[in-house]
Amino acid sequence: LTAEPPVVRGVAPLRAAREAWRQGGAKVGLVPTMGALHQGHLSLVERARKFTGRVIVSIFVNPKQFGPREDLAAYPRDLEGDRRKLATVGTDLIYAPDAEAMYPPGFETKVSVGALATGLCGDHRPGHFEGVATVVAKLLIQALPDVAVFGEKDYQQLQVIRRLALDLDLPVRIEGGATWREADGLAMSSRNAYLTAPERAAAPILYRVISEIAAAAAGGGPVNEALAKGRERIAAAGFGKIDYLEMRDAETLKPLERASRPARVFVAAHIGRTRLIDNVPVPAR
Ligand code: PAF
Repeated sequence: LTAEPPVVRGVAPLRAAREAWRQGGAKVGLVPTMGALHQGHLSLVERARKFTGRVIVSIFVNPKQFGPREDLAAYPRDLEGDRRKLATVGTDLIYAPDAEAMYPPGFETKVSVGALATGLCGDHRPGHFEGVATVVAKLLIQALPDVAVFGEKDYQQLQVIRRLALDLDLPVRIEGGATWREADGLAMSSRNAYLTAPERAAAPILYRVISEIAAAAAGGGPVNEALAKGRERIAAAGFGKIDYLEMRDAETLKPLERASRPARVFVAAHIGRTRLIDNVPVPAR
């Protein structure tokens, strides 16, 4: 167990720490989060550590990536709990800016990434990826890390961020980290805390369905029927609206009927008041 990491709120102390570490010869990693940390987040910190001697975790519930009817106010916040958890994986610094410092009066700039931000969650959460791209561009410029790590659970977000870093010549390596799952397969998410007991019991159907579709798709055949059946099973398990259940190209995120290229199966569906997402790779043949 290491000491609880110090928390800084401003860009000046963040940059001072980063400068001192770089001058000492260390590479610096950044793991951007919205807090309410779980084992999946901690694994991203451990992954950052593989590449860098120092790791910064940012905790910022970014208002710009929530829609007007989404869960910004309800989103779980627990800075002290997060600090204790981060101590167990060795975090050098927590950067937790205030919303007024990130977006002071007069703030006008938006970062928008084209095609990758459309389809899937892009179609169901208008403005979401613009909010993500804007805050991630800011965090990367503020912290100037050598490596930044993002979870594959938000796979479309990861692809949007890879594109953003490439297009803007940001001198940072973007790394993905594997999704962590509960014993029954449910992808770890801060939003799982919203689930009632019966919803929690039903939730693993998402992983089961996408895993089965991915296994079926590995043969190279069409998946339309498997997708239709999968939708029925998700609905039968107690889910309401299914935003999408689709197979897409793992790189371009274009829809695929057959896994002719590296592909992934993606799902987003609502249960009670909670929206859950998940995705898995189609195994290589
Ligand atoms: O994945 C998240 O927690 C957020 O979307 C991120 C990348 C921290 C940006 O606010």
